[in-house]
Amino acid sequence: MSVHKDVKRVTTHVLQEMKHRGEKIAMLTGYDFSLAKIIDNAGIDIILVGDSASNVMAGHETTLPITLDQMIYHASSVIRAINRCLVVVDLPFGTYQGNSKEALSSAIRIMKESGAHAVKLEGGEEILESVKRILSAGIPVMGHLGLTPQSIYKFGTYVVRAKEDEEAKKLIADAKLLEQAGCFALVLEKIPAKLATKVAQEVKIPVIGIGAGNGVDGQVLVVHDMLGITHEFSPRFLRRYANLYDEIKGAVENYIEDVKSLDFPNKDEQY
Ligand code: KIV
Repeated sequence: MSVHKDVKRVTTHVLQEMKHRGEKIAMLTGYDFSLAKIIDNAGIDIILVGDSASNVMAGHETTLPITLDQMIYHASSVIRAINRCLVVVDLPFGTYQGNSKEALSSAIRIMKESGAHAVKLEGGEEILESVKRILSAGIPVMGHLGLTPQSIYKFGTYVVRAKEDEEAKKLIADAKLLEQAGCFALVLEKIPAKLATKVAQEVKIPVIGIGAGNGVDGQVLVVHDMLGITHEFSPRFLRRYANLYDEIKGAVENYIEDVKSLDFPNKDEQY
């Protein structure tokens, strides 16, 4: 059990201390009130209101279609549910890459309208100006490097990133730039474990991995994937902790059966 279950509220400062002490950070995505309440009560350190909501909540193939208004809706539902964890919200595609002024106003909308605690942006040097402008307003920023799903049409596939030297060097340089700019943490997605370990050793801020091995400071998974609600998606890095797809389907099948056979409701289940 996490030592930090004693912590009343997880802040960016608490996360920094956890890295310092070598205590791993556990992060999951969350998009709605009911699931976020369970996740927070279980003692998670960070809930990421990820733009993966575009996939798992809305059924889109990529994260690109989700809007700022939709992210604010999901984030405010999560905020109403939690008591302890830090809530980080993805700035969706098209709300921060264009110019830093737009990035700041998108981040301010998220913070003001949802009550979230921090934002996450994908990319390194190319979005640095936006990162700095958001930070200058006192909004904590989490970076995200490696496989950045908002750039899927540039990458072409969801394969492991930064296997070659040039991309690996750029990733390390970007991680350092984001740290120097003042980001409080970084997500590294789907990169070789050795490279992720090197980044975690070379920066002082917490590095949280997904498909990046165990040499980093914490892990994140999409909650629908780790609970087995989604079942078509099985990358190597995904460990399933439940099989809710089959559980829920079985329960619904039983309900249908009971309704059709007049078994439900019985005498005790009516007024
Ligand atoms: O949107 C998301 O779920 C993410 C995680 C995969 C890190 O960005």
